[in-house]
Amino acid sequence: MQKRILTILCLLLIACCVLAQQTPQHTADAIDRKVDALLAKMTLDEKIGQLNQYTSDRLATGPLTENSSKFQDIKDGKLGSMLNVKGAKETRMVQELAMQSRLKIPLLFGLDVIHGYRVTFPVPLAEAASWDMQAIQTSARVAGKEAAAAGLHWTFAPMVDITRDPRWGRVMEGAGEDPYLASLIAGARVKGFQGNGLGSLDAIMACAKHFAAYGAAIGGRDYNTADISDRTLWETYLPPFKAALDAGAATFMNGFNELNGIPATGNSYLQKDILKGKWNYKGFVVSDWGSIGEMVQHGYARNSKQAAELAITAGSDMDMESHAYINNMAQLVKENKVPIALIDDAVKRILQKKFEMGLFDDPYRFSNEEREKKELNSPENRAAAREVAKKSIVLLKNDKQLLPLSKNLKTIAVIGPLAKSNIDMMGFWSVKWDDDHLVSLYEGLENKVGKNTRLLYAQGCDVTDTSKSNFAQAVATAMQADVVILAIGEHYDMTGEAKSRANIHLPGVQEDLVKAIKATGKPVVVLTMSGRPMIFNWTADNADAILQTWWLGSEAGNAIADVLFGDYNPAGKLPISFPRSEGQIPVYYNYKSTGRPSANDMGINYRSGYNDIQNSPRYAFGYGLSYTQFALTDLKLDRTTLTANDKLNVSCTLKNTGNYAGEEVVQLYLRDEFASVTRPVKELKGFEKIYLKAGESKTINFVIDKETLSFYDQKMNWATEPGTFQLMIGNSSDHILLKSKFELVK
Ligand code: GLC
Repeated sequence: MQKRILTILCLLLIACCVLAQQTPQHTADAIDRKVDALLAKMTLDEKIGQLNQYTSDRLATGPLTENSSKFQDIKDGKLGSMLNVKGAKETRMVQELAMQSRLKIPLLFGLDVIHGYRVTFPVPLAEAASWDMQAIQTSARVAGKEAAAAGLHWTFAPMVDITRDPRWGRVMEGAGEDPYLASLIAGARVKGFQGNGLGSLDAIMACAKHFAAYGAAIGGRDYNTADISDRTLWETYLPPFKAALDAGAATFMNGFNELNGIPATGNSYLQKDILKGKWNYKGFVVSDWGSIGEMVQHGYARNSKQAAELAITAGSDMDMESHAYINNMAQLVKENKVPIALIDDAVKRILQKKFEMGLFDDPYRFSNEEREKKELNSPENRAAAREVAKKSIVLLKNDKQLLPLSKNLKTIAVIGPLAKSNIDMMGFWSVKWDDDHLVSLYEGLENKVGKNTRLLYAQGCDVTDTSKSNFAQAVATAMQADVVILAIGEHYDMTGEAKSRANIHLPGVQEDLVKAIKATGKPVVVLTMSGRPMIFNWTADNADAILQTWWLGSEAGNAIADVLFGDYNPAGKLPISFPRSEGQIPVYYNYKSTGRPSANDMGINYRSGYNDIQNSPRYAFGYGLSYTQFALTDLKLDRTTLTANDKLNVSCTLKNTGNYAGEEVVQLYLRDEFASVTRPVKELKGFEKIYLKAGESKTINFVIDKETLSFYDQKMNWATEPGTFQLMIGNSSDHILLKSKFELVK
């Protein structure tokens, strides 16, 4: 008997050791004690070293400064983190240098794992079009697992910047124009990256960026001034950051932009009053690349030294690549310009994360080549990428139900500059791999069609071509086919950071190519492949079918083929308005009425509109078609008068009246008709994505409560006010099918 008990005890002991290795369990108090004990041993220089972050020279994601002493600096304890180091082997090698420092404080390794690490998922704006939080979380989860297996501790994602301006290249990196949808997505992405919580071997720290209002850049010009009212800041730009914080985002990153005269990096209102004050944020804030030093160019700091003083005082804890902290902070403390308490607070925030990540238990715990080999690019991860990619595709047009295509088609012509492109499917921010294999559209079609279907190919033109010399060959190819699939759009590096464009029409002569192919009289399916909304009015008017396929990542071609041939019924909805013209920008769905609303567009009779084009966008927020049709009926409200403490239960019936099974995103919008400040003509307040078989029906329920009806009143208090509300339910912001009204009473 005794032997048995001994055996069981030994097994239990082993199990505990394994578990400890997997997820070191430290309570917050225990970590605080360890941090305080370590802080007490640190010299001022060692403390400042923790606030300093350099990039590896292998991969620069910003303007590089010459700095050949990085590895010696690590051994001297002058770095707290490195970015752009990747791989189990390389991170171990660099971490070994940190273990030679006096206090052996491990480094944090960060990288822009924006939409996938080894397997590339659709760009974030594409994923937002899925309106599927589970899919979006899965995408971030796979990215987190792969990154953690590759020695990384931290991703600089999710980017949660709202924007209403597709001229701004970083529109591809966010979740579009609406704070409600973008907040849900921010939370899903943070949970995906951080998985079961910091300390798990497959979890990485998330980083909500760029705090704040970077997407409000005037003119859509990257890094440009953001000058918005406090109301717009709180109503539109802050909600996704609060959602990221509520989801447990381990870190925040500030922005390059100034906000209302003060650079975000040196903005106490943002980082101290709101983030660390009102929101009581306990993580740390990393600057954006060189943004501390850039306060000199902003004309806000006289020199790097003053920039360091302003940034640390405003709540910027870690200095990415500006060298302002490492070069000036000790002197600022000696001159009593920066109290040591500020340094200690920043250092503690950073050390806390290192303890939570288990790096003091084992600095190499993420740098395991065996695990890296097993996790990266696994069939499961690629399958997940294909699923998310399918859900991200938006059907913009489908005249005469041309789609889905029959699998018995004899000849398909695949034409256009992106038809055979692999690299353009990866998007701007993906991690580049020499041996990566991104499935092109053409390969996806080859994988899909049977042996009786012939695929023909012609490039027609390049993306930015001005030459039409290859049109004739493309037309001749089209003439041989039963249907033409036209792949047009942008190269992967045309939308992203520092990629703002004043002209967001289809680049080059691509729309002329569409015209030439359309003139053949063949049925034409156009695939618009881009990171941003593009303008393509002639194509929109004349193509038979259009799919917005964005940049869909590693499994792009397979996912598109699944949709083209009906193996997946597209259900994507636009997370951002597509303009008719750059002249309309910013154009968005939740606009204000004005005193002269232009109900019928064209701005005639002294109405607020343009005299040369319609006010409305080409494609509206929330728009997307399906191969089947849905009907919305039976709107019911369980009351039409309520107080702020009541809940209003709303229901309606969704029916699949078509011939295909499919999903619909039923969207609930509200309009507060009269208030102490003007309110948008509609605001998204809820949605349900529902799968129905052909002929099936389902009741959809929404609950409206005090939080739903609250807003920032005239004094900027988050409150409700009595009044009448319009309730609208539809399948797009511009396609409302059910309407009602209710009254909020005191
Ligand atoms: C870049 C980007 C930021 C990124 C950082 C590190 O300039 O603005 O989003 O995380 O530098 O690459």
